[in-house]
Amino acid sequence: AKGDPAKGKQIVDTVCAACHGVDGNSVAAANPTIAGQSQQYLYSQLKAFKTGERKNPTMLGMTAGLSDDDMHNLAAYFSQQKPKDREAADKALLPLGAKIYRVGNPASHVPACMACHGPAGKGLPEQFPRVGSQHAGYIAKQLADFKAGADRKNLMMTDIAGRMTDAEMKAVAEYISGL
Ligand code: HEM
Ligand code: HEM
Repeated sequence: AKGDPAKGKQIVDTVCAACHGVDGNSVAAANPTIAGQSQQYLYSQLKAFKTGERKNPTMLGMTAGLSDDDMHNLAAYFSQQKPKDREAADKALLPLGAKIYRVGNPASHVPACMACHGPAGKGLPEQFPRVGSQHAGYIAKQLADFKAGADRKNLMMTDIAGRMTDAEMKAVAEYISGL
């Protein structure tokens, strides 16, 4: 694959580390952990922020000065980092979260998440992102963004999130964070 992780690391140290951590493990729930995410997915998101297809003012600013090579290098670097395990904080939400993730909700035609994000949340090659070990707050925001359809769009996820209730989104986000 394209991309030189050592060159990516130089940008990480001065720019990205403040929010995503030097090894891609972020502390604040609003900033996603991007360690161990697939290289193709990382590149696709950087490009989407830069073109404004995925709308986020912070990441629009961060990607404005990046070249296509920079984005390949950054994606290569973060894809090689290791995500740290996380524990679900609100254990009361886990039974509903597990049901949505592993079975879905047949009544409202929500499919099982694991069909595309894998039984352990590690994602599937290459376009289906890792979701396990992610901050629950970030996951819940992405589901809400897909559902609203303004800041983030995706054929599959817009449809799926559109069928989910707030309670289901919150529960599955909590379950995923502990995967
Ligand atoms: C999201 C990379 C700098 C804050 C993302 C995502 C990537 C990324 C790939 C999407 C993750 C996903 O879809 O799972 C980078 C790189 C950076 C950088 C390579 C350096 C060039 C920063 C900085 C901040 C920041 C400095 C904070 C000031 C955020 C936030 C999101 C995000 C808040 C989530 C946006 C949303 O809610 O949709 N970043 N980032 N990033 N990043 Fe960065
Ligand atoms: C992205 C959750 C089911 C395909 C995402 C993201 C989340 C998520 C949180 C964003 C990841 C990030 O920003 O790092 C879920 C949940 C599901 C579910 C909770 C079950 C209710 C599925 C299914 C498919 C799928 C069944 C395939 C048919 C995708 C794809 C993306 C994605 C392709 C990347 C979208 C993009 O490029 O912007 N999902 N997902 N997901 N999901 Fe799902």
